[in-house]
Amino acid sequence: MNTTEPDTAARLHARLVDLLVSRGTVTTERVETALRTVARHPFVADASLDSAYAPDDAVVTKRDHTGAALSSASAPGVVASMLEQLDVQPGDHILEIGAGTGYNAALLAELTGPAGRVVTIDIDQDVVDGAAAALASTGYGRVEVLCADGAQGHAPAAPYDKIIVTAGAWDLPPAWWRQLAPTGRLVVPLRITGGTTRSIAFDRQGGHLVSRSMMTCGFLAMRGIGAQSEPTIALADGVTLVLGDGRTAPPEALARALDEPATRSWSGIAIPSGRTFQHLDLWLATTCQGFCRIVAQISAVETDLATPAFRWGGAAMTNETDSLAYLTIRPADVPGILFELGARAHGPHGSDLATSLMDQIQLWDKEHRDTAPRIDAHLKPCDRTHLAAMTVIEKVHTVLAVAW
Ligand SMILES: C[S@@+](CC[C@H](N)C(=O)[O-])C[C@H]1O[C@@H](n2cnc3c(N)ncnc32)[C@H](O)[C@@H]1O
Repeated sequence: MNTTEPDTAARLHARLVDLLVSRGTVTTERVETALRTVARHPFVADASLDSAYAPDDAVVTKRDHTGAALSSASAPGVVASMLEQLDVQPGDHILEIGAGTGYNAALLAELTGPAGRVVTIDIDQDVVDGAAAALASTGYGRVEVLCADGAQGHAPAAPYDKIIVTAGAWDLPPAWWRQLAPTGRLVVPLRITGGTTRSIAFDRQGGHLVSRSMMTCGFLAMRGIGAQSEPTIALADGVTLVLGDGRTAPPEALARALDEPATRSWSGIAIPSGRTFQHLDLWLATTCQGFCRIVAQISAVETDLATPAFRWGGAAMTNETDSLAYLTIRPADVPGILFELGARAHGPHGSDLATSLMDQIQLWDKEHRDTAPRIDAHLKPCDRTHLAAMTVIEKVHTVLAVAW
């Protein structure tokens, strides 16, 4: 329980929203007003005020016996961006999947106002009890908090103008399709392929969903019937390869690939400061065969055992037998340029993989550097004739079609 003076909370709260506005994360007055109205610290009562109002940090509120996070309040910057994506209008009926602390549900209630309706679901009864109590004590007792598997949605209150999912989904289950209004919007952190996740705002267009915006994000994975594990392989102490969808356990030889000497190649492609390459991994995930991700602990980076461009999930490729290559970076010695992209490879076929990776980086640089793809989602069974020109990703219930 926070016992610090209300002044400190109010100051940190105002500073957080000011920052989100100045960064351009908050772009509409409506979201700004909601963020200024709803204090965050009552929803994360065990956290310090500094943690409650840190812009980029999630606050973990429940862990399992191994210490893995089961529930959290998402980072305020992510919450704000997803609310901008959702575009709530006064009077909207909204379903949230992943009640967590109840903070986002309170923001949704502010945005839709008294004429609207907010239903929020969590799979975990403890979490539901906590969210309901926090919502009641902050004046948002009108939010309906339910314990259920969010993959089933909540049919009695459907249709919903907006559905927002705040746990990482791998598929779009049929209930969400059935319960979303004909002109509704779904915002969901979706593992698209190879573990590459984006928060996508989908609009319903005829029988399918079309992406309107997407942003990079990381989320606790959904539990329950929609859970989908990702096979992983430990390559060395502190280095893990996360294999993509539908991949089977990799062979022993791949587990030893890092023992093989590394080769490095450099692309000549520079990343200037202030310029992002946020969709490069998605480009590689949708174009490279054998795409996967490499995760390295700081200790592994410091000893040069593995140096992925992103420590927590750098783009990589394997031939699924004995070799791998992954995206790496080196600082550039040129003013205004942050670093140069390259590939590091291990194993007998590592250099072939590095060449393929480099080819795709070059193509991305020429044609897709500043673009995000459009992603269409179709509920199965669906007509596939018009999907031929797109990269098709199979899920259990849905087909995703990616166009760059
Ligand atoms: C990142 S937290 C949600 C944060 C929340 N929106 C907030 O404002 O604090 C993700 C939540 O999703 C819940 N969850 C995971 N799988 C779920 C499922 N299948 N159905 C409903 N909730 C689920 C977890 O228990 C966890 O509380």
